[in-house]
Amino acid sequence: MSKILTISGQRGGSGKSVTALNLAVSLSLYEKKILLVDCDPQGCVSEWSGVGAMDHPFDLAAVLNGKATTIEAISKTEFSHLDILPAGFNLFQLALKLSRLVANEKILRLLMADIREDYDYIILDAPSSYGYMSIAAMAAADWLVVATPPQDNWVEDFHSLLKSIQYIRKTHGTTLRIAGLLFNRCTDSAQIMNGMSGQLLEDTKNLIYDTTIPRDDAVDQAINKKIPLALHDIKSGAADGYLKAAREVILAFNYAR
Ligand SMILES: Nc1ncnc2c1ncn2[C@@H]1O[C@H](COP(=O)(O)OP(=O)(O)O)[C@@H](O)[C@H]1O
Ligand SMILES: [Mg+2]
Repeated sequence: MSKILTISGQRGGSGKSVTALNLAVSLSLYEKKILLVDCDPQGCVSEWSGVGAMDHPFDLAAVLNGKATTIEAISKTEFSHLDILPAGFNLFQLALKLSRLVANEKILRLLMADIREDYDYIILDAPSSYGYMSIAAMAAADWLVVATPPQDNWVEDFHSLLKSIQYIRKTHGTTLRIAGLLFNRCTDSAQIMNGMSGQLLEDTKNLIYDTTIPRDDAVDQAINKKIPLALHDIKSGAADGYLKAAREVILAFNYAR
């Protein structure tokens, strides 16, 4: 049975979508069967993976409002082990409609349950903040991978994320846990420890992946070309970082479970 991992982080620009796409690609290069689900109406991972929702008859919004099955909306990618369920702007209106009922936050979880046997990992790209799709993506997950740059206030952001995890666990009866914190745009690992001390460091340090993703111009170059890092320049620091992170994710799951 697959592991459902939502890439989360409180702020816009924290590197969630870059991480979701490139971690999904990297896991697929290790021959894990991956489904990447775009849960953001901005559709970044759909666009950057080359499978824009516009080019595809069905997307996540169509699945959520019952116009298509999940299987019908899943698209193949250039990577043999990676499929994607794309999203686009119509997810915005649908999310507004669905957000009127707390029970609706569970729909995505139920949809993922139908297909989880087909994949090793299902990776969900969550939008920023606490909107409906962000909560639904966390409610659908078993695990969160937290994407964050090592800015001074990352610890505060992490604490507010812990509160949302408690909300999800209580409201939806799930066992949502943190798989790890993946830092991106790092220049050196000392940055991460800034502002951390004593108990906080003890509580959190086991959750931090050894791998960090360096700040790398290749990220924006790949985004501009609307392709994953591995297709733009697999030897770039960031592409290499995501390959190492994927390996660490796989090993952590093998070891712990
Ligand atoms: N490792 C990195 N090196 C350089 N720039 C990065 C890196 N990771 C992310 N970025 C920049 O940050 C921007 C925001 O990332 P994104 O993944 O879209 O954030 P989020 O999904 O959390 O809003 C990207 O468009 C890119 O310009
Ligand atoms: Mg994003």
